[in-house]
Amino acid sequence: MSKKAWRTHNPSGRNRVIITKELPGDRWLQILTEADCKVEICTSPDILSTEEIKGAFGSRCDGAIGQLTEEWGEELFSALKAAGGKAYSNYAVGYNNVNVDAATKKGIPVGNTPGVLTETTAEMAVALTFAAARRVVEADRFMRAGSFHGWLPTLFLGELFWRKTVGIIGAGRIGAAYARMMVEGHKMNLIYYDPYPNKALEDYVAAYGDFLKTRGEQPVSCGRAESADEVFREADLVSLHPVLDETTHHLINKERLSLMKEHAILVNTSRGPVIDEAALVAHCKEHPDFRVGLDVFENEPAMKHGLKELDNVVVVPHIASATIWTREGMATLAASNVAAILMGYPVWQEGDILPFLGDEAPKAAPSIVNARELGIQVYRKGTRP
Ligand code: DGY
Repeated sequence: MSKKAWRTHNPSGRNRVIITKELPGDRWLQILTEADCKVEICTSPDILSTEEIKGAFGSRCDGAIGQLTEEWGEELFSALKAAGGKAYSNYAVGYNNVNVDAATKKGIPVGNTPGVLTETTAEMAVALTFAAARRVVEADRFMRAGSFHGWLPTLFLGELFWRKTVGIIGAGRIGAAYARMMVEGHKMNLIYYDPYPNKALEDYVAAYGDFLKTRGEQPVSCGRAESADEVFREADLVSLHPVLDETTHHLINKERLSLMKEHAILVNTSRGPVIDEAALVAHCKEHPDFRVGLDVFENEPAMKHGLKELDNVVVVPHIASATIWTREGMATLAASNVAAILMGYPVWQEGDILPFLGDEAPKAAPSIVNARELGIQVYRKGTRP
């Protein structure tokens, strides 16, 4: 066991489950207790090393819930398997920190927490968009410094989005939610880049455009770009929502930044390494009217040299999913994934997760990303084997 502080819940439980951080709420603990689990939780806020997590497995560990700050690779899954581990869930929807192939090779199902972060993360992307465009943080600092000596026609001029073009990279759940908020709320045209078309989003924008026409207003449009470059060139504001993999690492580099409009806004709530942060610092220094909102960083928790001095960048510490409802929901889903595998319950196809958040959680795993690879049958939600 690591030197970090741990607490134990339900010590008489038959299945030993390790949780590498305190999670919010207590619903998740009830779920694991009902699945006869002895739950051991690391109460230290420090990030656990691979060695410390292996130490926590000891000679017997049936399941684990880990964090996006930990590298769940070959070494951890081998150790978990050797300790008798049967289930792992990431406490996140993104799982770029997990080597799913390594888990699959060891026969370990990997869960994640989709659905509960969608609107929450999109709302934070909207908050960062306006904080950057309307210079909220700069203006706040100015007020607190006692520098406000009266209204001025030229004080803190920012950008208006009404009827302009919003661009998104990655039109999955969160990207599409953000796009809907910006299109509907601010009558913006949408341009998006995603290897897969999002027909539901396109239909949504078309229907909204038709509605505007019935009111005698100009409709809004939605276009799927052939390339990410097209989005960077055309949009007045670009929000990043791709998954992080080798195709999206440093997707935003010096060249792409140079395609963007002088007064454009760039927002990132996906993963830090999608942006070449050193190139971003250089670009922001040279283009003071270009503004940025960042929730995630290339080498978290650090920021690249020069970033924190920039007035045209708003930074927050990876909190886009940080609402009580969402973080408790993530805990519930992660616990349900592990409990279901340990109890031999079915795995449900990804979709509506709301039933899991109610008082009577379904006896099922809400989201196992390698179920098919492991030959685990996946059921349509609500159907029982
Ligand atoms: C996730 O779930 O992937 C988020 O980054 C956590 O906020």
